[in-house]
Amino acid sequence: MKIQSYNLRFMIIIIFLLTFLPTGLTQTTVQYSYFTYQETSFQPNLTGTQPHILHIDHYNDNSDTAVVRIARVNYYKNVTKNYCYEQRLLLRVIKADGSVIQINYENATEIQDINYCAVTTLAKNPLNIYPLFDKYILVTYTHATNTSDSSTYVDRGMVFHWNGTIISKLEFGPSYLYPGTNWYPKEFIINNITPKNGFLRLFAANGNELDSFKWSQYG
Ligand SMILES: *[C@@H]1O[C@H](CO)[C@@H](O)[C@H](O)[C@H]1NC(C)=O
Ligand SMILES: *[C@@H]1O[C@H](CO)[C@@H](O)[C@H](O)[C@H]1NC(C)=O
Ligand SMILES: *[C@@H]1O[C@H](CO)[C@@H](O)[C@H](O)[C@H]1NC(C)=O
Ligand SMILES: *[C@@H]1O[C@H](CO)[C@@H](O)[C@H](O)[C@H]1NC(C)=O
Ligand SMILES: *[C@@H]1O[C@H](CO)[C@@H](O)[C@H](O)[C@H]1NC(C)=O
Repeated sequence: MKIQSYNLRFMIIIIFLLTFLPTGLTQTTVQYSYFTYQETSFQPNLTGTQPHILHIDHYNDNSDTAVVRIARVNYYKNVTKNYCYEQRLLLRVIKADGSVIQINYENATEIQDINYCAVTTLAKNPLNIYPLFDKYILVTYTHATNTSDSSTYVDRGMVFHWNGTIISKLEFGPSYLYPGTNWYPKEFIINNITPKNGFLRLFAANGNELDSFKWSQYG
């Protein structure tokens, strides 16, 4: 779980460092530039804290464009010692010219509250974002028919277009439970070397004593 308390101005500096990092490492100087972006809150702001950056990534086929997931802390779970974030998916696409596209998804029937809290310190965040190619972003999460019963947890994905439209929905299969009935998110997704050809998903599979990993390819 990445919990970083940079404010937005700081975030933008980081992105531009990434954007202009030389790919071949042949240069030693790194150029960067600044811009300021005001994040406006249009719902009750829960704890009233600054938005945190939970994840930053860039496109393989367009390293000048970053996708950032931000969220405000909702509450701290003392039992598991994890933060829970407001129950909305907030994505910001930041282009090299400093323009920002907002994608906000608030359907808590589809991306349920279980996705907005870290599960355990070692497990992966249940809600993840992956820039695919062009204007597409994959979002992965877990959906349960009964959030109190981990055997009903299923891993899902949605592909967003920058305009906020969901162009594809995916069902990956049962969530990983370890040991026994404890939900333990564990997936790795990597773009095909040609991003337009899709992505590979590596995930921990249930069902035998020596839990194993499986690969799947999605086009
Ligand atoms: C955000 O939270 C703070 C602290 O609770 C409060 O003072 C402020 O009015 C809130 N802002 C909005 C827009 O709700
Ligand atoms: C939970 O932990 C926080 C931070 O340590 C503390 O301020 C708060 O009082 C605790 N809440 C409960 C219900 O124990
Ligand atoms: C929210 O998601 C559920 C489940 O996918 C769907 O049935 C419902 O129509 C969605 N609600 C809105 C307002 O889009
Ligand atoms: C949900 O799961 C819990 C725990 O297994 C169970 O007690 C409850 O009856 C289930 N609810 C429904 C509607 O099936
Ligand atoms: C968003 O983009 C997709 C893919 O180009 C298109 O099919 C859809 O109509 C667009 N939706 C809106 C609301 O512009």
